[in-house]
Amino acid sequence: MIDEIVFAFTNNKSLYIGEGLTISEHMIQTAMLAEKNKCSSDLICSSLLHDYGHFVVKDPNQLVTNQIDGNHEIIGANYLKSFFSNKIIEPILLHVDAKKYLAREKKYFNSLSEASKVSLKLQGGIMSDNEAKQFEKNKNYKNAIKLRRFDEGAKKQNIKIKDIKDYKELLISKII
Ligand SMILES: [Fe+2]
Repeated sequence: MIDEIVFAFTNNKSLYIGEGLTISEHMIQTAMLAEKNKCSSDLICSSLLHDYGHFVVKDPNQLVTNQIDGNHEIIGANYLKSFFSNKIIEPILLHVDAKKYLAREKKYFNSLSEASKVSLKLQGGIMSDNEAKQFEKNKNYKNAIKLRRFDEGAKKQNIKIKDIKDYKELLISKII
């Protein structure tokens, strides 16, 4: 499994939908932000793998152009859950809901990139108060929110980033 993850990160050159960097670069930047913010090793691992569903989906570039939501968070979480604990999987599963939750804040909504605003619509739009209350019942919802904020900040181009191999040991230590 670890070899498969390293292979996917190294060889999948798909661009992160609507942004100017690859999905691999985006996920590594997300993990780097989790590290910078001194998050737990579980949350660093969630951050690193949060969009892995896009690697499982055949052609992620098609999703937004075809105006369909790929449910990549569910695909990714389902795919990874036999290998990693629920503490790691849940923030991955909830990172889209976390965006719908946070979008209730004007400041957060305005900070979203254009592509992210488009996908927000496809993902069901901003949460109602009731949906937000339900969301807060999830055990790991706070970690999902943290992941989401790193996610938004992880779209920089031309910055020096780590290599997936730098995370190999962490990944190995988290395999169940
Ligand atoms: Fe992401």
